[in-house]
Amino acid sequence: MTEPLQSGLLIEAFDVQLFRESAESVLAKLEKHLADLSIRGLELVEPAQLTRAARALMTKERDRPAAFDEARLAEIVDLYIRTGVQVHSPGYMGRQFSGVVPLSGVVDFVSSVVNQPSSFYEAGQLPNVAERIMADELNQFIGFEPGTFAMVTTSGGSLANLTALLTARNRAFPGVWSRGSSEIPGPSRPAVAVGADVHYSVARAAGILGIGEDRIVRLPLDAERRIDVRRVRPALDEAARQGLDVFCLVASAGTTAVGAFDRLDALAAVARERDLWLHVDGAHGASLLVSDELRHKLRGIDQVDSLAWDAHKMMFVPAPCTLLFYRDRERSRGAFRQTASYVFDDQPSVYTELDSGDKNFECTKRPMIMSLWVLWAMYGRALFAEKIEYLCRLTRYAHAILEEQSDFETLHYPEANIICFRYRPEWVDEDEVARFQVEIRNRVKHRGNFFISKVDVDGVAALRVVMMNHQITTGHFQMLLDEIRKAGKAQ
Ligand SMILES: Cc1ncc(COP(=O)(O)O)c(C=O)c1O
Repeated sequence: MTEPLQSGLLIEAFDVQLFRESAESVLAKLEKHLADLSIRGLELVEPAQLTRAARALMTKERDRPAAFDEARLAEIVDLYIRTGVQVHSPGYMGRQFSGVVPLSGVVDFVSSVVNQPSSFYEAGQLPNVAERIMADELNQFIGFEPGTFAMVTTSGGSLANLTALLTARNRAFPGVWSRGSSEIPGPSRPAVAVGADVHYSVARAAGILGIGEDRIVRLPLDAERRIDVRRVRPALDEAARQGLDVFCLVASAGTTAVGAFDRLDALAAVARERDLWLHVDGAHGASLLVSDELRHKLRGIDQVDSLAWDAHKMMFVPAPCTLLFYRDRERSRGAFRQTASYVFDDQPSVYTELDSGDKNFECTKRPMIMSLWVLWAMYGRALFAEKIEYLCRLTRYAHAILEEQSDFETLHYPEANIICFRYRPEWVDEDEVARFQVEIRNRVKHRGNFFISKVDVDGVAALRVVMMNHQITTGHFQMLLDEIRKAGKAQ
């Protein structure tokens, strides 16, 4: 038998000096990218054209590549940075993922290189400790009983919503996890009740769990687009008459469409009275908890059963980074009921008590908490509170600007940093308004200066701005309105 030999290729790919040199040249590009505060939306490239450009950058020498091609790496990074949404530009006002605090990107880079998955303490020790610390830090603003609550990280808010609903389903229908839905007793059918503006991931979770997307009880909204609390009990009674066994009520803390906050204290009273699990989708708005000025929007959060909180939205760290809180630690074990000898120890010890592999879906999981924890370690809550307060104030100011324009129509008062409105110059006919908003959004996108989104409000399309970047000023918002007017004229 001959001893295994390592090729030059392997030696080069793992060469640490090459690693440093390529990191330095990429870093220089990123520095330039972050320093560029010009107003840019999206340079939308056709997929076929981008595929050609990407293919042209691939080595043709697949079996024996020549020496490391610095220029190729530089071109790939340039293409990556240039195409796609420009989250650091003041022209980006379209969605809820954010331009990250640059330092959190640095920490994420460390996470990528040391590659310590975080579902089990022995693999990712500091990430597991940081998860516990962040849970305690953030719980100061939630108010669950210290020592009796739980928090796990999940890859995104959608997965957190699914996990919470699964936990609620398993609590209400204990036999289903192991023996399937035939276990469900009697003629009634499991259902969840949600606000009409709930994020689609909740409806998707109902589909995945076998509850059925159509079994969702959609609760009517009030004038502020929150769940209309007065109509919840009658809606639940009506659902029961139709044979639906509602086991979970889902409230939103910051709806995707307009950023509305459901009245958690009032909904918690209903949930208690009817023995329902109350889950809060705070993917967008839970971060307002860290602000003394805005925390009141989530009054009652200490009484809910579970809370999904995306740090990759309003805590400005790289995606994904979601925290799923449970008021009752024991219940957090109810989502997944499994044994697996290769990871779950029968004999717990001090080294396994922080493991979360039994409570989150992922086996290998990014140590996503690290970028959040390091920011918190360096700046405390002040950084987040300051940025969130600025963004919400800016959005209220944008609302005031819109109110002064005769050719724009506001649709709601902004509770957070999301605002929806319509452009309605007098020359657009009433029955063309919806189509016109979609057209405007697309034209603005293709002009490439600003990136905004659109959403249906009461079934009619509207323009949607999400302020995620503190480098946006009211002047930029005025420029956006001018851009919309120009786009309206362009045929
Ligand atoms: C209210 C709300 N819930 C859930 C989600 C889904 O979160 P994620 O994109 O992290 O899966 C979003 C995303 O925009 C959201 O706005």
